[in-house]
Amino acid sequence: MKPVCLVLGAGAGIGGTVATKFAQEGYHSSLCRRSDKEGLDRLVKNIEDQGGSANGYIMNAIEDNAIEEVITSIESDIGPIEVLVYNLGAQTGMKLLDQTSHKEFEWGWRMASFGLFRAAKVLCPLMLERGKGTFLVTSATAAMRGNMNQHSHAAAMGARRMLCQSLNAEFSSQGIHVVHIVVDGAVDAPDTLGKMMGPEMYQKFRETKGMEHDGLLLPEKIADTYYHLAQQHRSSWTHELDMRAFSDAAWWNSSIMLEQNRD
Ligand SMILES: NC(=O)c1ccc[n+]([C@@H]2O[C@H](COP(=O)([O-])OP(=O)(O)OC[C@H]3O[C@@H](n4cnc5c(N)ncnc54)[C@H](OP(=O)(O)O)[C@@H]3O)[C@@H](O)[C@H]2O)c1
Repeated sequence: MKPVCLVLGAGAGIGGTVATKFAQEGYHSSLCRRSDKEGLDRLVKNIEDQGGSANGYIMNAIEDNAIEEVITSIESDIGPIEVLVYNLGAQTGMKLLDQTSHKEFEWGWRMASFGLFRAAKVLCPLMLERGKGTFLVTSATAAMRGNMNQHSHAAAMGARRMLCQSLNAEFSSQGIHVVHIVVDGAVDAPDTLGKMMGPEMYQKFRETKGMEHDGLLLPEKIADTYYHLAQQHRSSWTHELDMRAFSDAAWWNSSIMLEQNRD
């Protein structure tokens, strides 16, 4: 029986590409996304066409019991989940305080933090019985730094980071590896950033910053790192890392970069 890599939030960017990488390396990948059935089927078929093993679920992760049910059903019908990739974003757009509703603020927390907590509640006991398991938690610059129009996103992703640290503190010594992965820059991700920007602006952005310029993080390269993290020896586990394109400023330097660009 193949070990399972479950990806919560699998579009054509990081989620689907990480699922593809794990399937290429011999895992069964289970991909979950909210709405795009065609896109989901395309990702699964692409894995199968390469000789890999995969299946997909359309589910809304913030609905009651959705995460719990998918984990339980994979464990009973497919196999043990060795790796959980928690890839759900919590971006509500650039909004000042008076534009941010209570509902949006709470939604961010549900996506960023409560969903991961719920997944951990179901999965940690199973991983503990097996004495091993890995959580690869995609995160963002907002986990490290608040900003004027990021009230919901930054509070939510900051909570995600602290939850990862708390899970590590409780479970690391019992064999569960939790990694908080700060993606500190724009990703070449058509289903999220692409939709947020709209097709024309996204294409222009890719042409000026991405492609041969390597100024956008490439999902295939991110996926290589995710796979490496899941294979690390426990004597030297990574618990947090950040990645960004070579030409970007790190989150703690980005205001300096903005000043330089202005001159
Ligand atoms: N894209 C960036 O520039 C960027 C930058 C920094 C950090 N990140 C982080 O990267 C992660 C996302 O990766 P990505 O941008 O490359 O996206 P992706 O893996 O291409 O797609 C993520 C998928 O999550 C699914 N999703 C959204 N809400 C969901 C829900 N409630 N239940 C189930 N599935 C849901 C969406 O499915 P549907 O399309 O079917 O609705 C979407 O396609 C997030 O954690 C984000 O914070 C992204």
